[in-house]
Amino acid sequence: MCGIVGYIGKQNAVDVLIDGLRKLEYRGYDSSGIAIVDHTGLNVQKAEGKLANLQEKIKDDNLHSSIGIGHTRWATHGRPSDYNAHPHTSQNGRFAVVHNGIVENYLSLKETYLAGEHFTSETDTEVVAHLLEKFYNGNFEETVVKVLDVLEGAYALVMVCADEPDKIIACRKDSPMVLGVGEGESFIASDVPALLAYTRNCMYIEKGELCVLTRDGITIKNHALEVIEKEIHAIEWDAEAAEKEGFEHFMLKEIFEQPAVFKKTIAGRIQGASVHFDEFELTPEQVQKWKKIYIVACGTAYHAGLVGKQIIEKMARIPVEVEIASEFRYRDPMLDEDTLVIVISQSGETADTVAALREAKKHGCKVMAITNVVGSAIARESDYVIYIWAGPEISVASTKAYTTMLIAEYLLGVYLAQQKGMPNAEERAAILDGLQNLPEITEQVLTDDYLAQIQNAAEGFKDANDIFFIGRGFDWAIALEGSLKLKEISYIHAEAYAAGELKHGTLALVTEETPVIAICVQESTYDKTASNIKEVKAREAKVLAIINEGDDQAQKFVDQTLSIPKINNFIAPVLAVIPLQLISYYTAKARGCEIDQPRNLAKSVTVE
Ligand code: M6R
Repeated sequence: MCGIVGYIGKQNAVDVLIDGLRKLEYRGYDSSGIAIVDHTGLNVQKAEGKLANLQEKIKDDNLHSSIGIGHTRWATHGRPSDYNAHPHTSQNGRFAVVHNGIVENYLSLKETYLAGEHFTSETDTEVVAHLLEKFYNGNFEETVVKVLDVLEGAYALVMVCADEPDKIIACRKDSPMVLGVGEGESFIASDVPALLAYTRNCMYIEKGELCVLTRDGITIKNHALEVIEKEIHAIEWDAEAAEKEGFEHFMLKEIFEQPAVFKKTIAGRIQGASVHFDEFELTPEQVQKWKKIYIVACGTAYHAGLVGKQIIEKMARIPVEVEIASEFRYRDPMLDEDTLVIVISQSGETADTVAALREAKKHGCKVMAITNVVGSAIARESDYVIYIWAGPEISVASTKAYTTMLIAEYLLGVYLAQQKGMPNAEERAAILDGLQNLPEITEQVLTDDYLAQIQNAAEGFKDANDIFFIGRGFDWAIALEGSLKLKEISYIHAEAYAAGELKHGTLALVTEETPVIAICVQESTYDKTASNIKEVKAREAKVLAIINEGDDQAQKFVDQTLSIPKINNFIAPVLAVIPLQLISYYTAKARGCEIDQPRNLAKSVTVE
């Protein structure tokens, strides 16, 4: 998704902007651009494609300025091109604007205020630059407020004015942005990694606030332009955590980080045989009041929700429905004060999930977030937050965020049961014990020997056109995640089916050309899944099975097995999904795909 960087201070803004935009490349983008204010006035440079194209374009221009804004764009209104790339300027070239989000009423704004004006792009953003010019009264701040008054939609906006070259103005509504506080310099970015090389002191901007960045510091104002005091937070992520640390891809690095981040997700939350969250405390009365839970999320987070449903229903005996966020709010769900809505989102900024959260709040529901990003929209707007503490996830394909979402759900399932006074104390203690052993056990599926087996399996998948994943119960939930991961980064068509459902139609597609990956980890459904595997074997499909260590039956009816170490069967999904992540990774690698930034996808999806 789009990335924003802004800088004012003592360094050459061009260098800071390009460096910051490079740190945001992981968000996915199709073009980039910068605007600086120099001796010529506003100087805007843009290029379609990778950031290297922009660097090539400006390399001989000797650009220099102490103030500038930059952007990486992911197309929404208008195709990827130089002219649709940001920054966009006003007609007289006095204002430049970079924008994340969507100005929903841009067509009516054009008609009402800007009739007859010439636009150089197809974007909604250019309207903002034109409005700044239209409403300019000699005071940049007042002009921005007037423009904000007529905008509808979601935005993070950063603007410069050639007539007031000592300030950058920024504001946001529904799209994220963070301010970096330096000495004699100020920064703004859509994401923390763009700031890490320069400062660890940051401020989060709330909806409707106006930020004025100067060389002497940052002032936050409200809509009436009165100054608001803001707390400065220390960024705890170190710069190294955002680098690849010797791994060929961020995805592989993030898969390998799982044992370490599992420890962080659990840390301080297991106290003896019970769970405690620093972030909130629920009384027995509150938990008993919830007659129903909705889990709402998108993509991988939705798949985590499918596991969460089974955990919560089993542990706390509260009925749970799992919904895709983009469907949830359009189907008039039955929500009331006795319903808890759990939103799951790594980024905490996914537009569909944010919209679902707001819909739930409108109906008086309490909302609990499971997220990775402190200060994100979802974290700020929810009543209760469980952070997964996975650290920055750069690869578009989510791995460690998924597994830590599952761990958060196990903790939550145990917590709800314990607060509700359920009589399953022994079962809860066994789960907590298993979670504590998980980091160490996970190391065993990240050995060279194990990776070699997976690379060997990937060789068998790399030329397939279609691959099926099958499983039952928990095994089906992770099969869905395995198939999403494979199609996302290897571009092989992959589908996951509840193993028992194949024979109701999809079995017609199974031939010797369609490899099948079967997850056979859940003991309670093992025999039934084995029967379904025999059905696909009878159609000549090659089958790889993910099994528990010590299973000496599977070899008799599948072609290949990958085992996971023995662990409490209820928490096995966390472990069993790791070979699926690695199969996707090595299959994509064998096909020569661009793993960390798959085509057409973005890390943080902030449009609906
Ligand atoms: O940031 P979120 O967890 O809300 O993101 C939701 C999905 O966009 C995300 O999980 C997506 O499906 C991943 N790229 C999958 O690997």
